[in-house]
Amino acid sequence: MTAQAQEKGASAPVYAPSAEFAANAHVDAEKYAQMYETSVKDPEAFWREHGKRLDWIKPYTKVKNTNYSFGDVSIKWFEDGTLNVAANCIDRHLKDRADQTAIIFEPDNPEEDAQHITYAELHRRVCRMGNILEDMGVRKGDRVVLYMPMIPEAAYAMLACARIGAIHSIVFAGFSPDALGARVNGSDAKVVITADYAPRGGRETALKSNTDQALLHCKDSVKVLVVKRTGGQTTWIEGRDYDYNEMLLEADDYCPVAEMRAEDPLFVLYTSGSTGQPKGVVHTTGGYLVYAAMTHQYVFDYHDGDVFWCTADVGWVTGHSYIVYGPLANGATTLMFEGVPTYPDASRFWQVCEKHKVNQFYTAPTAIRALMAHGNEPVEKCDLSDLKLLGTVGEPINPEAWNWYNDVVGKGKCPIVDTWWQTETGGHLLTPLPGATALKPGSATKPFFGVQPVVLDPQTGEEITTTAAEGVLCLKDSWPGQMRTVWGDHDRFQSTYFEQYKGYYFSGDGCRRDADGDYWITGRVDDVINVSGHRMGTAEVESALVAHAKVAEAAVVGYPHDIKGQGIYAYVTLMNGIEPTDELRKELETWVRSEIGPIAKPDLLQWSPGLPKTRSGKIMRRILRKIAENDYGSLGDTSTLADPSVVDDLIENRMNKG
Ligand code: WTA
Repeated sequence: MTAQAQEKGASAPVYAPSAEFAANAHVDAEKYAQMYETSVKDPEAFWREHGKRLDWIKPYTKVKNTNYSFGDVSIKWFEDGTLNVAANCIDRHLKDRADQTAIIFEPDNPEEDAQHITYAELHRRVCRMGNILEDMGVRKGDRVVLYMPMIPEAAYAMLACARIGAIHSIVFAGFSPDALGARVNGSDAKVVITADYAPRGGRETALKSNTDQALLHCKDSVKVLVVKRTGGQTTWIEGRDYDYNEMLLEADDYCPVAEMRAEDPLFVLYTSGSTGQPKGVVHTTGGYLVYAAMTHQYVFDYHDGDVFWCTADVGWVTGHSYIVYGPLANGATTLMFEGVPTYPDASRFWQVCEKHKVNQFYTAPTAIRALMAHGNEPVEKCDLSDLKLLGTVGEPINPEAWNWYNDVVGKGKCPIVDTWWQTETGGHLLTPLPGATALKPGSATKPFFGVQPVVLDPQTGEEITTTAAEGVLCLKDSWPGQMRTVWGDHDRFQSTYFEQYKGYYFSGDGCRRDADGDYWITGRVDDVINVSGHRMGTAEVESALVAHAKVAEAAVVGYPHDIKGQGIYAYVTLMNGIEPTDELRKELETWVRSEIGPIAKPDLLQWSPGLPKTRSGKIMRRILRKIAENDYGSLGDTSTLADPSVVDDLIENRMNKG
């Protein structure tokens, strides 16, 4: 984006969509205004129409039946319709697209051949996997955990579950055996699908061996389906472990689809919150798919024949909605990449874009910052002329990274969609539409169709009605992609999202709305942090630390990190008589990796003989955050502390002196 850059308001530059882009886009400014208005004035009529983008076995007559009253929260969309997600993502495209590539697979090792899987092949693969799961005893409504590398079999497994009506729950392959075991138990899964090893960035994670360890803490009846990825050695438990590649030889090429009700669960995905253990976010069949497909088409301005690449992992919601479900429901060509941005070198992303002629590219600000640090040469040596649009997700993008993405990657001609959403929301809620919305670096701009953001005063809970506003970001009313419940704990669903601000869905994020009505996300207002775009509860890291025999107490906060966005800062109080040593520091880091996974390892760990507490014993996190941010000049009132001298010691020995 270049020509229309202009100064507006206080300081933010504004980039209007180019006339050329707008002319070819699904939606221009006028159409956005008109569609948005209908979507909020008459959601029934709007979604009755847009629900038709799917093939329904039994068409719905009811559209929306939602209730946000605390104590009685219930969200239903298209509830009397029936459909099958796999039929919508595959079978219905066979008539016109059997030979079109559905999935491009780019392996971790660039020397290994890429694969192009057509819709016809995808159909066969998913049918076979469906039959294998049925042979293993999986039935409609059963839970299947996936712990997989980023290989096409992960997508086959998701779609095979959907095909037979099983509920999948993907556990990111970077999670530890303990975390995997907890999720297998949490969802009471019948089968775990995994692979021997997961290659990533030239290294290999032993997924099968991790699964073996995880299952030591699970029911004996849990079975394991093992996909061969590297062919490396694994242990084998007869009767429990099933060999996917062997069963494939016998599996039938056709598997009938299960007729599912719109509100039957499609998947459970565990995510971190401000308290306790991760919760299983439940998404259902009809509304989720309508919403994932519609946002994919409009936000990325996807057109037939385009090659779409979302760099997320299928272990996160972004991979669910924008690698698999949204794109495939739209008959798109979607790219799955097994590797990391910097392997074998920092030009890998751009080489993949060139090789597969990628048209829309969607990644996280943390990846952009990491690549920006390698300079322009790795980008400039690649031919990126097929790129039409760029996107970001996961955390606020800083203007420097936005400008680099725009100038160096997009060559000033690709709109950037900064999409704000959450595991809970199923799809984008605040985002530009590239042919319609004027962009501002760092702003997620405007609501998608049907989305009604409100800014609440955090103290009074009152809605701030002036255009310019700052406060807590909540949503009024529902949208079809919204989560329906927490797996096995509807009360937790209500109390997490609907209790604090009655009548609204509480996002957990703070935001600012500027005079143009554009939204700027200011970050979480709860104890959730975003580390390299991975969502993490500080409470989870704390409970991992205090589970170590030498740790008496721990407090974890986020602090600004140049590449990761936020880093993990841990304050640790040791048991009486235990010496703080560098070895112990390493031991604790390894401990957290094994309790949760490498993504939870503290970046900075400070020994703290005491933590700042109120006289009633509550840890004052505000103070710990300030020290971690190296902003101890503005600690505010510390007079209510039980022992104010604790703070001096913490400042003296702070780790972040940068
Ligand atoms: C943050 C990822 C600013 C936010 C899809 C949210 C963002 C949390 C953006 C959800 C964005 C996501 N700008 N912040 N464009 N996108 N976030 O559940 O704090 O892994 O609440 O979903 O990420 O993270 P989750």
